[in-house]
Amino acid sequence: MRDQAWKLRRMVEDRVQPVKGRARVLAITSGKGGVGKTNISIGLAITAATAGLKTVLIDGDLGLANIDVLLDIHPRKNLGHLVSGGASLRDVLVRAPGGFQVLPGASGLSRVADMGHMQQQVLFEVLGRLMEENDLILIDTGAGISRSVVDLCTSAGEVLVVTTPEPPAIVDAYAMLKVFSRATRAPKCWLVVNQAQSRGEAQQVMGRMRGLARQFLSMEIERGGAILHDPRVPASVRRRQHFSLAYPSSPAAQGVRDLCESLGLSREKGNHGFLQRLRNLLSGDLKKIPERAH
Ligand SMILES: Nc1ncnc2c1ncn2[C@@H]1O[C@H](COP(=O)(O)OP(=O)(O)OP(=O)(O)O)[C@@H](O)[C@H]1O
Ligand SMILES: [Mg+2]
Repeated sequence: MRDQAWKLRRMVEDRVQPVKGRARVLAITSGKGGVGKTNISIGLAITAATAGLKTVLIDGDLGLANIDVLLDIHPRKNLGHLVSGGASLRDVLVRAPGGFQVLPGASGLSRVADMGHMQQQVLFEVLGRLMEENDLILIDTGAGISRSVVDLCTSAGEVLVVTTPEPPAIVDAYAMLKVFSRATRAPKCWLVVNQAQSRGEAQQVMGRMRGLARQFLSMEIERGGAILHDPRVPASVRRRQHFSLAYPSSPAAQGVRDLCESLGLSREKGNHGFLQRLRNLLSGDLKKIPERAH
């Protein structure tokens, strides 16, 4: 029977030649669920790939991975197979419509910190290779202040916090920011207001949240952008074709392009600290992150 070591060796042998540079790593998260993270992550991946960035979107929703459903792709292997040695990176990455690659998620994977040593090593190896071979790594996380989400976000170093103008979403986004503000190394946070009825409404939410974060969390939040409520988003979800491709001139697609511009995704600087930060978290810093914000 093929043992774990054999599988690991195979993965190392399977290594493709590293290309240039180091990728920028950006996690997309939210306090409340269902605010639009996955749709925005895919939109960013399509827009960045169209702009010429070699982009990978990781489905980091360890509980309910569903990027494949939205993209209408049918991966045979996923992150779970990868970290357990049952597949190589080449087996797992899937080309998605829009010109980027997807690393499909594994529903039911436990926290990164709970993985065995071997699995963590494989994860580091994989992430390191992805960072060498690509310009941009996007990680779509699950919602809420669970440990796995906070681990991914603080390790990424840059986080897009998505909210809608509805009070429960705003309160939960603030709770998320509060957790980040207490992390050993607070990530750089960008705020995105999705499903706004108007630009004015989005600006109001943006201003209020940035003010609150500055006053009570001593945190500077970057302006990500506003994406308007747009019926073409649910329509494209039902068609299983992202709105950036199905309706490129829709207000939502324009909002995603503006967001890309705010993030400066065409002016890459890289993210050299991602793996080190993840390693630090796993080796003890994790305990300094509070389980809940309130
Ligand atoms: N700008 C928008 N306008 C209208 N509807 C939207 C918009 N953005 C998202 N939606 C709707 O919200 C729903 C949830 O979106 P999505 O799955 O991207 O959210 P999520 O934050 O990833 O959810 P989860 O927390 O479950 O992972 C989608 O079915 C979509 O139709
Ligand atoms: Mg999602």
